[in-house]
Amino acid sequence: MTRYAENYKAIETSTIYDEIIQKGKTYTSPSVKTFEAYSKPLSPVKGDGQYLWDVDGKKYIDLMAQNLCISVGYCHPLVNSEVKKQMDMLTHSTAMYVHSVAVHYAEELAARFPEGHDWVVHLVNSGAEAVDVAVMMARVYTGNNPMIALRTGYHGVQGPAMSLTGINTFHQNIPLDPGVLHVANPHPYRGIFGDAIDGYLGEIDRTIESSTSGEVAGFIVEPIQGFGGVIPMPEGYLPGAFERIRAAGGLCIVDEIQTGFSRTGDHFWGFQADDVVPDIIVLGKGIGNGFPLSAVVVKREVAEATAGKKWFNTYGSNPMSCAAGRAILRAIDEDGTMQNARETGAYLKGKLEALKDKFDVIGDVRGRGLMMGVELVTDRTSKKPAEAETARVVETAKDLGVVIGKGGALGNILRINPPLCIQKEDMDVVAEVLDSCFRNF
Ligand SMILES: Cc1ncc(COP(=O)(O)O)c(C=O)c1O
Repeated sequence: MTRYAENYKAIETSTIYDEIIQKGKTYTSPSVKTFEAYSKPLSPVKGDGQYLWDVDGKKYIDLMAQNLCISVGYCHPLVNSEVKKQMDMLTHSTAMYVHSVAVHYAEELAARFPEGHDWVVHLVNSGAEAVDVAVMMARVYTGNNPMIALRTGYHGVQGPAMSLTGINTFHQNIPLDPGVLHVANPHPYRGIFGDAIDGYLGEIDRTIESSTSGEVAGFIVEPIQGFGGVIPMPEGYLPGAFERIRAAGGLCIVDEIQTGFSRTGDHFWGFQADDVVPDIIVLGKGIGNGFPLSAVVVKREVAEATAGKKWFNTYGSNPMSCAAGRAILRAIDEDGTMQNARETGAYLKGKLEALKDKFDVIGDVRGRGLMMGVELVTDRTSKKPAEAETARVVETAKDLGVVIGKGGALGNILRINPPLCIQKEDMDVVAEVLDSCFRNF
């Protein structure tokens, strides 16, 4: 007797666009349809490197990489072969056991962080989950509750992560975490204190003085705010903020979910641009090149404080995801993604600056490496957000074969975060497509 049927019939999947969209409308919860990117949704079917194809066979240059999940490229041969190898051995090993791939991965990941600290790795499945673990650790270690986060920061949409996110379109009307305090985000183009960092750092002081006992659990920050509008933290802000938080007994958490794994071009991690060392780092998205994986990397003594209580998570340290994670670290080195992010990102930035000289609707071009944002305004003096125009560019670019993101708390930022293997020739096409979008306003 065999345990399984001899010849399974393949499961059929429709690739007819209208049928897919209709099924999505009928069976998918409206709660997960609030983030759809296009008026006529994109239905992807295949990816290769920096390119994506839809169910009708149309090819796109992908500047969004599935919301930055695809780091080293779609269907990367090393990543896929390592995952397939693991899949044929053992698809899951629970955290009650110790799996060799997971511990090798933890060792290799920890080695990517600044020397002189005893880093340990806590593996989970999604960004918000990693953020929640990080905040829990900061609170337990310090014995304090207040968490300081930035306005327009994005850290996820469930649990404490939702409360940390500083954009109310992501806040359900339920009690938010009472310990979270938002302060003004340093934003040279649009921030309430202009382009000097003192006002923003002063806000941290004033918030600690007015809204806490004087003690905080920690501070969470993205080195470049991603969804919030591709806003790089200005030079000197992170060191100043870390100093203030540590003086109030708190820990510094850096959310590298978008900026990590060489995306910013000059460094492996976004925080390295400002020469600070966080206490806890949360990783997600590109860590898994599309496989569900995220991590909290934390100083041992902080993690040890939480070890008095049991912790369990069903899929954390899944060996297939960890096999992907190991392969991605190798691919980043062997493919030279950091150099490519630096060079191709700089090449693109030059093209975007040239478009800014040509079209008044572009108010600002910013970002680092392959994490770029273009802010559209109806008028450069008032800086009124050009939300409708941004939406139009995104839709038209798609028709012309380029997937580009729309974001920002005001909905007027074009987001460019492609797979890290994208080439300069692709950027030539992107610049032509954007030129045509702006020309035909
Ligand atoms: C900076 C940042 N932090 C946290 C998250 C939450 O990650 P996830 O969607 O995997 O929960 C995201 C997701 O977009 C993010 O961009």
